[in-house]
Amino acid sequence: MEFREELKKRTEETESIIRRYLPGEEGYQKTVLSAMNYSMLAGGKRLRPLLMRETCRLFGGETPELYPFMAAIEMIHTSSLVHDDLPAMDADEYRRGKKTTWAVYGEDMAILAGDALMIYAFETAAKAFGGSARTGDVGKCIGILARKTGIFGMIGGQTADVEMTGKPVPEDMLSFIYRLKTGALLEASMMIGAVLGGADDQEAGKVEQAAADVGMAFQIRDDILDVVSTQEVLGKPVGSDERNEKSTFVTAWGMERAKAAVKEYSDRAIETLSSLPGKNEFLNRLLIYLITREK
Ligand code: IPE
Ligand code: IPE
Ligand code: MG
Ligand code: MG
Ligand code: MG
Repeated sequence: MEFREELKKRTEETESIIRRYLPGEEGYQKTVLSAMNYSMLAGGKRLRPLLMRETCRLFGGETPELYPFMAAIEMIHTSSLVHDDLPAMDADEYRRGKKTTWAVYGEDMAILAGDALMIYAFETAAKAFGGSARTGDVGKCIGILARKTGIFGMIGGQTADVEMTGKPVPEDMLSFIYRLKTGALLEASMMIGAVLGGADDQEAGKVEQAAADVGMAFQIRDDILDVVSTQEVLGKPVGSDERNEKSTFVTAWGMERAKAAVKEYSDRAIETLSSLPGKNEFLNRLLIYLITREK
C-alpha cells in the first residue's frame, strides 16, 4: 500500500480506538463532558497514539493493553492544547479547524475540561489493568505517562515557555523548553509503545532518545509552519508566536537553518531506531514524512 494511503488507514483506526474511550455526556457535569468531547473530536493528526502503536509493532506487535494508553495519550495531548490556547497562555481562537474550547465554552469550562481530560486520561490508562496479566508493565507505563506529563515533562516545559514569553531565550534553555513541552509527550508515546511491545529498559532508553529528537524536529517544524503556513491549512492561527513574542528556533536561527535542523533531528531519530533489533518500515516513513509535513 502506498504510504499516504496506509497513513490514512492507520489514522482512521486510531480515531476509532480513541472514540471507544470517550465519556458519555450526562449528569449535572454535562457541560464539562461535552467540552472534553468537543476538543477530542475536533480532529487532529492523532500522531502520538499512532507513534505509540507503531513503536509497539516495532518490538512485538499489538497487545490489548495498548488501546487504553493510545486514548490516554491523546487525551493528555488535547488537554495541553486546550490550556495552551487559553487567553492567559497563547490566546488563540482556532484549533483543529474549529473555535478553541474556551471560545465556545468559556474560560472556566476550558480550564475544567483541560483538567478533566488530563485526569480522565489516567482513569482510562488504568483500564489496561483489567484482565491483563502484565500488571507490572501497565504500572510502569502509567508511571511514564505521569512523569512525561507533569513538572518533569510537558507542564515543566510550558512553564518555562510561558515565563520566557517576550524575552530572549538562550539556546540551551530553548532546547530544554522544546524537549519538555513537546518532546516529553512524544517520548511517553513511544516509550509506552516500546514497553508494551516487550522492550527492556535499555531498549526503552534508546526509544526515549529517538523520541526526544522527534520532539525537537516536530516543534521546530511547528514553529516554521506558524510563519509560512495559513490558518486554512493548519486549522490554527498562524503568526501566533510573533504576536506572543515567543523566541523560537526560527527567530534564533532563521528559516533555512531551522529547516535543516528538522531534517537532522529526524535523521538521527531514525538512526537511533535502526540500532534496535526490530524493523518497522512504516514508522521510518512516518518520521520522514513529518520533516516536510504541511500541518
Ligand atoms: C500541536 O501538536 C502542539 C505541538 C506540540 C506542536 P499537533 O501538531 O500534533 O496537533 P494536533 O493533535 O494534530 O492538533
Ligand atoms: C506546543 O507549543 C506545546 C503544547 C501545547 C504543550 P505551541 O504553543 O507552539 O503549540 P501550538 O502551535 O499552539 O499548537
Ligand atoms: Mg504555547
Ligand atoms: Mg500555542
Ligand atoms: Mg506553535
